[in-house]
Parts: sequence; C-alpha cells; structure tokens
Amino acid sequence: MKILVTGGAGYIGSHTCVELINSGHEAVIIDNFCNSCSESVKRIEEICGKKVYLYEGDVRDSALLDKIFTEHKIDSVIHFAGLKAVGESCEKPVEYYDNNLGGTLVLLQSMRKHGCKKIVFSSSATVYGTPEKLPLDELSKTGGTTNPYGTSKYFQEIMLNDVYKSDGEWTVVLLRYFNPVGAHESGLIGEDPKGIPNNLTPYIAKVAIGELNEVGVFGDDYPTRDGTGVRDYIHVVDLAKGHVAAIEKLTKSGVYTYNLGTGVGYSVLEVIRAFEKACGHPLPYSVKPRRAGDIAECYADAGKAKRELGWEAKLGIDEMCASLWNWQTKNPNGYKG
Ligand code: NAD
Ligand code: UFG
Repeated sequence: MKILVTGGAGYIGSHTCVELINSGHEAVIIDNFCNSCSESVKRIEEICGKKVYLYEGDVRDSALLDKIFTEHKIDSVIHFAGLKAVGESCEKPVEYYDNNLGGTLVLLQSMRKHGCKKIVFSSSATVYGTPEKLPLDELSKTGGTTNPYGTSKYFQEIMLNDVYKSDGEWTVVLLRYFNPVGAHESGLIGEDPKGIPNNLTPYIAKVAIGELNEVGVFGDDYPTRDGTGVRDYIHVVDLAKGHVAAIEKLTKSGVYTYNLGTGVGYSVLEVIRAFEKACGHPLPYSVKPRRAGDIAECYADAGKAKRELGWEAKLGIDEMCASLWNWQTKNPNGYKG
C-alpha cells in the first residue's frame, strides 16, 4: 500500500515509516520540519535501503495536499503532524488549535476530495483526563482534559467520529498512545527534542551523558508504590508496529479505537534505575515539587489491540532504556551530529 505519513520526519513518524517500508509498503511524507529535519528522512532511507517520497510543507496547505494526492495513488493516511508540548500549549492555545485542528480539517477535506477515506490518527492517553479506574480501557470516560494539547486530541477524535457518521465509507482508526520512548536499534533515528527536554526519558538521557546535572523527580508524595508518578512506557518500535497492524488488519469501514501501551506501569524512580543499568553508572536526581497538571498513575489495558489487531508490545523497559542510550551516545547532539 502507498501511505501518506503526515509528520513522518518526526519521532514516531520516522519509526513508523521504517516499519511500513520493511513490511512492503511505500511511504510518502509531508512535514514542515517545525519539530524535525530532513536528516531523519535520509536516515529512514539508510535503514531501509529504499526511497521515501518527501514533500516539505504544511498539512494546512491544501494546494500541496492536492499535488500529493494527484501525484500518488494514496491508499491511506497516517496523521502524526501536530504540536505536542503540553506546557507550551497552555501558553499558545491559538497556535495549538490552529495547527492541530486546522491541520486535521484541511487534511480531511483533501482526502474527501481525492476519494481517500482511510485515516489512522495519533491520539493519546491524555484524552482520558484523570483516570477514574485503572487500567484504562477504550471504554473509559474521555474528556476532562486539562490543557489545550489534550483538548485538541479529544476534539480531533470527535471530528473524526463525525466524519464517519456522515459517510459510512470511511475507516477511522484512533490510536491512543501511552508514553512512547526508546529508539530504533540501529541508533540512526530517535527522539531529538529541541532545548531542554520536557519528558522524562530524554531528560534522563541528557543527565546520563553529562549535558544536564541531575534528574528532577516531580513529586514523591503520590499514592503510588514509591510515591513517584507511574506511566505505561512503550518502546517506539512496538508503537510503530501497531500502526502497521492497524493499516493491514482494518480493511472494513468503521471507527476503531485502540490503546497502544504495554499494560505495565513504571514509576519515575524505577525508570531512573533501569536507565542506570543501561548506561552503566549512577544518575544523580533530586525530588522537586509536583508538576502542575500531572496525574499519579496511568497505564493501559492493551487487550483490545491484541484481540483485534493481533498486536502486542514485545519490548520491555530495559530494551527501551538501552535503545535510547544507544541513540544518545551515537548522536549526542541529535540529528545535528
Ligand atoms: P514530533 O514533533 O517528533 O513529530 C510531529 C511531526 O509533525 C514533526 O516532524 C513536525 O515537524 C511535524 N508537523 C507539525 N505540525 C505540522 C504541520 N502543520 N504540517 C506539517 N508537519 C507538521 O512528535 P511525535 O512524538 O512523533 O508525535 C507524533 C504524533 O503523536 C503527534 O500528533 C503527537 O501529538 C502524538 N502523540 C505523541 C506522544 C508522545 O509522547 N511522543 C504521545 C501521544 C500522542
Ligand atoms: N517527570 C519527572 N521529571 C521530569 C519529567 C517528567 O519526574 O523531568 C515525571 C512526570 O511527573 C511523570 C512522568 O515523569 O510522572 C512522565 O512524564 P512525561 O513528561 O515523560 O510524560 P507524561 O505522562 O506527562 O506525558 C506524555 C506526553 C503527552 C502524552 C502522554 C500520553 O508528553 O504528550 O505522555 O500518556 F499525552
């Protein structure tokens, strides 16, 4: 199949392109490089030994989308493009709604115009807000999001549901990711955050390599086994394979929603210990106040994806940390070298 991958130069998109191509599909990427660079696309080609079609531009540019759909017979779209920093979204809600909702609207209009009616959307566990019970399954309540980024994901899910209600020929797949971490085993592609990382594992990796002094543990008084926040970390390669399973298995029209997680939660201190094993030395950390908007615990019931897609996460926390350390040491400055 020929798949249009929006945001395909980014962290999850690049790993997904590798798995798509290695499964015999063709990838066409559109990316404006607002949070990535063309080097990641070159690395995808290096890993796979195949050409990737690349269009530099914005998903809100309908003329560019027209050109892509005219030049390629696209079977389905995987829509990663969007802004994703929770804190920044509170400072720039207009930019977040414009990019995330605007991008999805223009993309849907173009898909409809060109008769492409299959979309896989990057949603997030954040749509569940504060969990009422754990683990979270796909029927758990959504909404109650606490920041514009999360609200934009929630709204986009509603928009995509409405598209299917209006035209039953669509296939809409909503993949709710838990916490993607790690990197491809080659160490050629990985997460390359700009500036000081917001997320836990890239921050730990920068402490491990000596670029940052210590890990700040945001709160040790949560009602969890060691008082620190618990999350369902999933290896980005497992996550990427979940997209291939969704594209290949879901051939009938409908709306399908899946959690992509491991079903296992790890605390911040457990992740630090796992990373110490991977890098081979102790990591300095200190406890800081809780971060605003954080929840205590979040992990998936990933059973539906296993039952219906035949997909389950295979890699554990040690592989996640080892692959991230491999990427970090081979690319101390990310794609800049
Ligand atoms: P990323 O920033 O690495 O990738 C997003 C890509 O989209 C980037 O390459 C960026 O340049 C591009 N982009 C953004 N806006 C664009 C636009 N208007 N037009 C064209 N390209 C645009 O982020 P990621 O971690 O790979 O996340 C991919 C998707 O998964 C996002 O939608 C994100 O919200 C979602 N998601 C990520 C996580 C996570 O923790 N990483 C968790 C849940 C959901
Ligand atoms: N944490 C620290 N120190 C840090 C960074 C994080 O202690 O320097 C803690 C957080 O308090 C939390 C855990 O580590 O308990 C994980 O935090 P992350 O920032 O890595 O991830 P979040 O769970 O907050 O959010 C991530 C993405 C969201 C996405 C969500 C999906 O950032 O975009 O996963 O579950 F929606």
